[in-house]
Amino acid sequence: MDHSIAAWQPDLGQPLQLAPIEAPQPGPNEILVRNRAIAINPVDWLLQDTALFPWLDYPAILGSDVAGDVVAVGTNVVRFKVGDRVLGQAVGATTNRPAHGAFQSFTLVLSNMASKIPSNISYVNAAVLPLGLGTAACGLFEKNHLGLEHPSLTPKATGKTILVWGGSSSVGCNAIQLAVAAGYECITTASPHNMDMVKSLGATLMFDHADKYVVDQVVEALRGREFVGALHATGNIQDCFSAISVCDGRRFVSTTLPPPTDLAAGVETRLIFGTSLKDNEVSKIVYVDFLADALAGGKFQPAPPAQIAGHGLESLQTALHTQKSGMSGAKVVVSLEA
Ligand SMILES: NC(=O)c1ccc[n+]([C@@H]2O[C@H](COP(=O)([O-])OP(=O)(O)OC[C@H]3O[C@@H](n4cnc5c(N)ncnc54)[C@H](OP(=O)(O)O)[C@@H]3O)[C@@H](O)[C@H]2O)c1
Repeated sequence: MDHSIAAWQPDLGQPLQLAPIEAPQPGPNEILVRNRAIAINPVDWLLQDTALFPWLDYPAILGSDVAGDVVAVGTNVVRFKVGDRVLGQAVGATTNRPAHGAFQSFTLVLSNMASKIPSNISYVNAAVLPLGLGTAACGLFEKNHLGLEHPSLTPKATGKTILVWGGSSSVGCNAIQLAVAAGYECITTASPHNMDMVKSLGATLMFDHADKYVVDQVVEALRGREFVGALHATGNIQDCFSAISVCDGRRFVSTTLPPPTDLAAGVETRLIFGTSLKDNEVSKIVYVDFLADALAGGKFQPAPPAQIAGHGLESLQTALHTQKSGMSGAKVVVSLEA
């Protein structure tokens, strides 16, 4: 196996530091992926600077999104073989195991958190998916969140509607597509320049989150529809809850960020933990049963589009700064291909 290098997070507030590391052997239900592309999420720069996850020891290897080639498989793994092109949601910041982190040449990925990618999707494009997808899936499908019907290649219309607040974000783009694949109509918010993108992903009504009447517009749009609740992906959380507090239908918000403390009477909410699917049925619903076929059949798009921040692990620190500076309808990716 080639030489393995990791981009370590030495301690809080420090820049990433490259150092050799021994590539690990997969456990029974793991695959070892040689990373060809790594995407950046807000949690990566948050964990660089703050002890957001109190259980996480530093030095740590951060990062959640990888795409690459399978180079070894665990003894129980039947879905993958050496040489498969895959994407995977890396869970090192949750398991507190550096080998599970994305920011290195080889990552151990739980086999239920990985999917094959078709030959027409590049590693760079595939890498935009995992954490955004996993987070959206937790909010939409976990039973104590929105508990929606499951996504399918041939969705049956449920006649029901969901609201995705912040549809152009990484979580939002995946939430729209998953909800549509599960048979729901999707209403969303985004900036005007991202509306064509969210429409192409399946949203049917889009509202400008910066419009001063956005709350009224969303409430009006939900009137008369069978509304099953909201997923707050990003944006003004107060506006999202204001709309939900007076809308017709289920007043429940599954949210990526801590909800307001002054909830209106009758509004329910739950905070998503974007890796919780690794331990429940949602990883199977999405990574095992749906994603590979959906990508191969053109029924699911890697979105938002990749924005390459550099090549090689040495570009990861710049990529973190780029993500932190704020993205609009794009995902920061580092390519590890020559
Ligand atoms: N709880 C969890 O487990 C979990 C997991 C993953 C992510 N998260 C959190 O979820 C949020 C979304 O993550 P992400 O990776 O999807 O983010 P992202 O892709 O970086 O979000 C970018 C989008 O945010 C929108 N945006 C930025 N500033 C805004 C503002 N002031 N008002 C409204 N919209 C604004 C932009 O929309 P427009 O350009 O269209 O305006 C942009 O497209 C982050 O806060 C992240 O930390 C939590």
